[in-house]
Amino acid sequence: ELPDIQHGRLIIDKNEQPTPPPPSETLVFGRTFTDHMLTIEWSATNGWEAPHIKPYGPLNLAPSSSVLHYAQTLFEGMKAYRTDDDRIQLFRPDMNMKRMNNSARRIALPTFNGDSLLELIKKLIRMDRHWVPKEPGHSLYIRPTLIASQQAIQVSPPTEAILFVICSPVGPYFPKPVSLYATTEYIRAAPGGTGAFKLGVNYAPAVMPQKMVAEKGYSQNLWLHGPEHYLTEVGTMNMFVVLKKDDGDLEIVTPPLDGMILPGITRDSVLQLLRDHISGTRPIRGLDKGEKLAVSERGITMKEVKDASQTGKLVELFGAGTAAIISPVHKIGYLNEDIEIPTGPDGMGRIARAVRKELSDIQWGKISHPWSVPV
Ligand code: COI
Repeated sequence: ELPDIQHGRLIIDKNEQPTPPPPSETLVFGRTFTDHMLTIEWSATNGWEAPHIKPYGPLNLAPSSSVLHYAQTLFEGMKAYRTDDDRIQLFRPDMNMKRMNNSARRIALPTFNGDSLLELIKKLIRMDRHWVPKEPGHSLYIRPTLIASQQAIQVSPPTEAILFVICSPVGPYFPKPVSLYATTEYIRAAPGGTGAFKLGVNYAPAVMPQKMVAEKGYSQNLWLHGPEHYLTEVGTMNMFVVLKKDDGDLEIVTPPLDGMILPGITRDSVLQLLRDHISGTRPIRGLDKGEKLAVSERGITMKEVKDASQTGKLVELFGAGTAAIISPVHKIGYLNEDIEIPTGPDGMGRIARAVRKELSDIQWGKISHPWSVPV
């Protein structure tokens, strides 16, 4: 039983100077925030205090707050989607709540009852529901965050923390194929490290390498691991490789959750949709029922990808994450050469397109699925 955050004690301060949401076509990812936010303070002595929904605005943080020194911060990324008939729904939010608690345990921040936080997040979304965009492919990106706030620059478990949730209307990520640079100089994660947790500390060190590959003309890093150059993640996303096997069947490969891979909710959903398709439980429209597919969570090296490319067996490669959903890749720069990856006429391979359509139709409520949770 995780500590309750007593949503019954919720205090609401309405924003008396709300701003009208800007026109959706002007939205830049993560730059616009809604009228309200949720904050919940925690202390080792009192546990979780009364939750508070109040106008979006600065937090009260001392310069000695340990988050500002030792990166005791973790976050989640989830979206609220508006359906054609104007319902608002979330996608597998229980997974975000679980992962957030796992992240909290990894850096000794306080855990909480995920169901109570989810109820509060729903209240926050209902208050700002006119901020959930109507346009196709748009959504409200929700950013739950937990930080250590006590005034102490010793490195130790926090005695005070703040959980807050802010919301940002976002436009579609057009599924334009991206180019990757397989980085051999920097890593994202290592065994025993924090790569499998959604911690702020995993993201800051990726910014400079990202700038470096952008200067080379590539859009994201392809993060490798070990002397064998195992593929791990692309940019801030999980990744999938589609290979043609010797018998002509397709194998869809994603790296296993070995402690270095972020357990993405989109990753898990892609795997489940494919497995349900393969077993016949729930066919993916847009994929041929007779076609032989296999799904593997296994390690895959750059050598295997390069060999597959040279023998015409590299069929597709794509990233998967909450923000972009599915992001096709058309090229990987690796040790001073380019590996070209096929993409379809609209920039997407057949598998990427079918999976993306299935997922987004569930997310935007065009088809019903137990993963959808009404707000
Ligand atoms: C994703 O949704 O793929 C992310 O990791 C979000 C990003 C803004 C950090």
